[in-house]
Amino acid sequence: MRTSGVVAVSALVLNNVANAAGLTDYVLPDAGTINGGNTFPGVSLPFGVIKLGPDLYTGSDSYSGYQATGNFTGFSLLHESGTGGAPKYGVVSQMPVVGAIENPLEDHNDTRSAKDEARVGHYKASLGSGTTLEMSATHRAGLYSYTFPKDSTSSNVIVDVSHVLPSFRGQGLGQSYLGGNISVIKDPQSGSLHYEGFGSAGTARQNGLFTSADILTKRRLTRLLSEPNPLATELASYDDTPSIESTARLGAVFTFNSTQVTSRVGVSFISTDQACKNVDAEIPRDTSLATLEENVKKAWNERILSKITTTDTTNNTNLQLLYTSLYHMNIIPTNKTGENPLWSSSEPYYDDTFTLWDLFRCTTSLFQIIEPVAYEEFIRSLVDIWRHDGFMPDGRSSFSNGVTQGGSNADNVLADAYVKGVRGAVNWEDAFKAMVTDAETVPPNNNDSRDRSASTKEGRGALPDWLEHGYITTKYKRSVSQAVEYSVNDFGLYQVASGLAKTDEANRYLNRSRNWRNQWNPDMKFQDFTGFLGPRNTDGTFKKQDPLSCGGCYWGDDYYQGLPIEYSFNAHHDIEHLIELCGGTDAFIARLEAMFTPGLNPSGDSKFDKTLFNPGNEPSFTTPFLFNYVGRQDLTVKYSRFNAKSYYNPTPGGLPGNSDAGAMESWVLWVMLGLYPMTGQTTFLVGSPWFSDLTIHLGGGKELHITTTGGSEDVYYVQSLKVNGQTWDKAWVTWDDVFANGGTMEYVLGSDPVKWATGPAPPSPATQHDDSAGGDSA
Ligand SMILES: *[C@@H]1O[C@H](CO)[C@@H](O)[C@H](O)[C@H]1NC(C)=O
Ligand SMILES: *[C@@H]1O[C@H](CO)[C@@H](O)[C@H](O)[C@H]1NC(C)=O
Ligand SMILES: *[C@@H]1O[C@H](CO)[C@@H](O)[C@H](O)[C@H]1NC(C)=O
Ligand SMILES: *[C@@H]1O[C@H](CO)[C@@H](O)[C@H](O)[C@H]1NC(C)=O
Ligand SMILES: *[C@@H]1O[C@H](CO)[C@@H](O)[C@H](O)[C@H]1NC(C)=O
Ligand SMILES: *[C@@H]1O[C@H](CO)[C@@H](O)[C@H](O)[C@H]1NC(C)=O
Ligand SMILES: *[C@@H]1O[C@H](CO)[C@@H](O)[C@H](O)[C@H]1NC(C)=O
Ligand SMILES: *[C@@H]1O[C@H](CO)[C@@H](O)[C@H](O)[C@H]1NC(C)=O
Repeated sequence: MRTSGVVAVSALVLNNVANAAGLTDYVLPDAGTINGGNTFPGVSLPFGVIKLGPDLYTGSDSYSGYQATGNFTGFSLLHESGTGGAPKYGVVSQMPVVGAIENPLEDHNDTRSAKDEARVGHYKASLGSGTTLEMSATHRAGLYSYTFPKDSTSSNVIVDVSHVLPSFRGQGLGQSYLGGNISVIKDPQSGSLHYEGFGSAGTARQNGLFTSADILTKRRLTRLLSEPNPLATELASYDDTPSIESTARLGAVFTFNSTQVTSRVGVSFISTDQACKNVDAEIPRDTSLATLEENVKKAWNERILSKITTTDTTNNTNLQLLYTSLYHMNIIPTNKTGENPLWSSSEPYYDDTFTLWDLFRCTTSLFQIIEPVAYEEFIRSLVDIWRHDGFMPDGRSSFSNGVTQGGSNADNVLADAYVKGVRGAVNWEDAFKAMVTDAETVPPNNNDSRDRSASTKEGRGALPDWLEHGYITTKYKRSVSQAVEYSVNDFGLYQVASGLAKTDEANRYLNRSRNWRNQWNPDMKFQDFTGFLGPRNTDGTFKKQDPLSCGGCYWGDDYYQGLPIEYSFNAHHDIEHLIELCGGTDAFIARLEAMFTPGLNPSGDSKFDKTLFNPGNEPSFTTPFLFNYVGRQDLTVKYSRFNAKSYYNPTPGGLPGNSDAGAMESWVLWVMLGLYPMTGQTTFLVGSPWFSDLTIHLGGGKELHITTTGGSEDVYYVQSLKVNGQTWDKAWVTWDDVFANGGTMEYVLGSDPVKWATGPAPPSPATQHDDSAGGDSA
């Protein structure tokens, strides 16, 4: 919890945002931390390995370590941000404790005596003991600065190698400490002490974190601890190099007769030597917290925040939402290049992808625009993971693939990168082979207790049905939602195959990309709407299905985390055909509007007025923009804006649901920019920007300038648009129009809808290249 006041005050004094180095002043790191948002409020660089922050115990899962209530159990180095599933990391912590410690192996914890204070590059916690702890970080090292109470003569720091963030979900997804060691070493020259250790925690593949740390102050007593055979050694002399190992409980206590203690810690997944090198290179001795904070701010400003600028400072809340969303969108994935213990490679390595199921629509497409250098590295890393692990990930953390909720959505990401011209050092022949593995090779079953029907680890578990029938039967779990995702994945293969002039493959996968149509049950009915994506029994017949129910909507059901009516909009490469199936333009508009009508969803969340549209989950993300396909761009503006304004705020509870590693934040960013990406295609659907001007800095001096005139909080319907100086009558632009070389988009806004987008509808490539039947080759 943090005091937004501190940040907001300095933001108000800026008047030329475009040139200010101080965009971090608009970032509120505690935004989205509570009500299930799960964002990380501690210190991290963009994609930083170190995410240094507090771990709190409340009896429920602390996904990012942080909770607004509860006791501190430690301050640890590795965290995720905005994830669900079960907590990961929280490994290797330090915990300050005042007074004599009888049993260091107990669960030492402490209350909060004041709200935590968070700003970019700096985190401060105040503990019940009277101790305050301030932190900052670099890419692979962190700095802790303790101020113990004035009268303290026994100030302790417990280093807990066995500390992890526990899970209380009871799904067997919790991590546990798997073993490690710690040594306390005296520097022969300076006489100073440091610890080196190794801790391993996880659920699947064992991966260990090496640490190397100095604890600096004058007087020290050190004890090494372990369970199950507690062995507390008081080290009176520092001449030896004590070291100890344990799989149950492990740590060390450093005791000081002093109120100021600093500790700099480096980490590595390779070795303690490398951890020591990392800390020495990144936080040389005597580096101040203030210096590190400045460096973190500079990195965020230069690498991320300054990529989108505006001179429109009329609404501070909008600026905070813009920059805070950019911040939380870019904390994970983690750039672990040079720190991969599994294989050596000249390719980059990115971990903590949570998950492409969440990220492929809005996040990866924005990632390309904001950080093209990191994005290309990320794409190369996906392909390198296929080279060495056999499959690209949908989700990946701790160096392991895992948690594939639907299709093999790395295919969508690669297709998007390919059609938008990402080349650089990406080996596209290999990238296509990786996609073909997803499309043709059945992944081994990992026997996930949540779904034993097929792999949930990687690839496409339900592939045998897809290949044999062109649809997925209820032999497989999540059959319907997987089927529509497999179609989109196959469309991705078509896109890359076409680009690589692989004609046979292109035809094959374009054809397959239409197989979602085989899952269309024309007899499903809701109000006057007939025809929805429905489950098929193993004999091929359709199973009876209510378009408004997904049962438990979870791993074992026919639809995953979304209603049949929502998934029925998700063949985004074949919208023209979808409109026909839905009964034509007017019926499609009515069906879309039903998604936003309050009260129609009996099982809906009342905080979202029980709408069928779910602003808190990804299968709904594109739905408000589909009005652009049927001549009602005004309704896209109306509903996207309404939902963004209603459910997003730069406050701790200000996300509509789980951040999903920044997916939510990237959705609202696109709404604010007035564009929406159709991933895997070059199309961007046109909305209505929130600022009078926006500049997107694309690198190499290229810029997209977006301006609006006549708009205000209540006046936002598009009256006219010029693109690159030309009057525009289409509710969409392409990558080449505005991003490849930059460009301009000039909007005139007004209070009433106007029919300005009278030109061709956005492309529906799978419909338009359909020579077989019913296809309109427009
Ligand atoms: C916190 O410490 C108290 C002892 O002071 C202990 O009884 C309790 O179990 C600890 N709680 C946690 C969550 O570690
Ligand atoms: C929180 O810390 C206080 C002070 O040490 C302790 O009395 C209390 O039991 C702790 N609460 C939990 C849930 O561990
Ligand atoms: C600690 O464990 C790691 C991983 O097994 C090992 O590489 C390292 O040598 C060990 N260090 C000590 C001092 O035992
Ligand atoms: C701690 O330091 C104070 C002042 O330097 C000294 O008076 C006291 O004896 C020291 N206590 C211990 C336990 O070393
Ligand atoms: C500023 O923006 C916020 C969020 O978009 C909005 O709720 C608020 O009404 C706006 N304030 C004014 C004065 O326009
Ligand atoms: C990723 O990390 C590697 C190794 O630290 C570094 O060389 C590379 O520049 C980083 N990528 C980005 C985009 O910062
Ligand atoms: C899954 O179960 C099958 C059959 O019992 C077994 O052959 C296979 O090794 C298991 N795979 C894993 C990853 O546990
Ligand atoms: C497309 O798929 C259908 C069956 O799903 C098949 O009959 C046809 O031959 C395929 N066409 C191509 C070009 O692969």
